[in-house]
Amino acid sequence: MERILVIGANGQIGSELVEALAIQHGAANVVAADISPASLYGAQVYEVIDVLNAQRLADVVGQYQITQVYQLAALLSATGEQAPLKAWTLNMDGLLNILELARIRGAAGQPLKVFWPSSIAAFGPNTPAVNTPQYTVMDPSTIYGISKLAGERLCEYYFQKYGVDVRSIRYPGIISYKSPPGGGTTDYAIAIFHAALRGECYPCFLEEETTLPMIYMPDAIRATISLMDAPAAELSIRSSYNVAGVSFNPRELATAIKQNLPGFDIHYAPDSRQAIAATWPQSLDDAQARKDWGWQPEVGLQQMVQDMLKNIQVTPKELHKAA
Ligand code: SER
Repeated sequence: MERILVIGANGQIGSELVEALAIQHGAANVVAADISPASLYGAQVYEVIDVLNAQRLADVVGQYQITQVYQLAALLSATGEQAPLKAWTLNMDGLLNILELARIRGAAGQPLKVFWPSSIAAFGPNTPAVNTPQYTVMDPSTIYGISKLAGERLCEYYFQKYGVDVRSIRYPGIISYKSPPGGGTTDYAIAIFHAALRGECYPCFLEEETTLPMIYMPDAIRATISLMDAPAAELSIRSSYNVAGVSFNPRELATAIKQNLPGFDIHYAPDSRQAIAATWPQSLDDAQARKDWGWQPEVGLQQMVQDMLKNIQVTPKELHKAA
């Protein structure tokens, strides 16, 4: 039986992952944790954990006899640029604390399986942007991307040197409606839906032709859990897997929204996030994930748009304005 700890449970991915894991493993077997108290998201227990506090982390893992940990606490690309040292410390030391704990527990015969998210931000301006290969030039230019690339190398190092069973995905931008995202460059593709449903013209902070790899949350959750459930012997990558969902740019997304809400309008006001997006891939080659653990995306652009518009909560007044 697995006992699972999700750190960063209040976040965009964490909240939905806790929900999915509680359904799969039973609410009693999932511990939701974050730096401040919040909802349980279907889990039975909630613990306040600062991932930078290694002792507290070890205590909670020991107390609940945790066998799997998802370390999702991080600063994202845009907020990371506002506080680079804080982003580096949280993203790197948070991961190192988990890997060290897994190493120590593994040596004591109490293995701890680890999931850690990497990102398309680990790529950079000299990476081939179209159908970006699994193995290629990686020269990230944001502190977030640099922490992701370094983190990937740490994951592989702890696997090779200490046998830590660590698994990772290079997430594309994740689109979802349940919890708000926090400070990412891809978040325009969520904010745009809220503006559309409020009947507002959306001021897009990326240029209209800026194509980025994205993924709808149900696909992202399925990818994450499939990778964690895959037999270790089938995994050929312990740094981080490319995983593709759907690629589009703001113009294409706006067109798809307009097909459902004909009154919707967008204008373009690129800011500093455009320079970040310009260094990231447009699409990913995820052949290795498909081969190793059977990855297959299910949700395309049209379905995602319709689902987002159906599920985002807006007041009746806002809906009336959008019609
Ligand atoms: N979605 C993230 C961001 O935009 C990338 O991993 O920062």
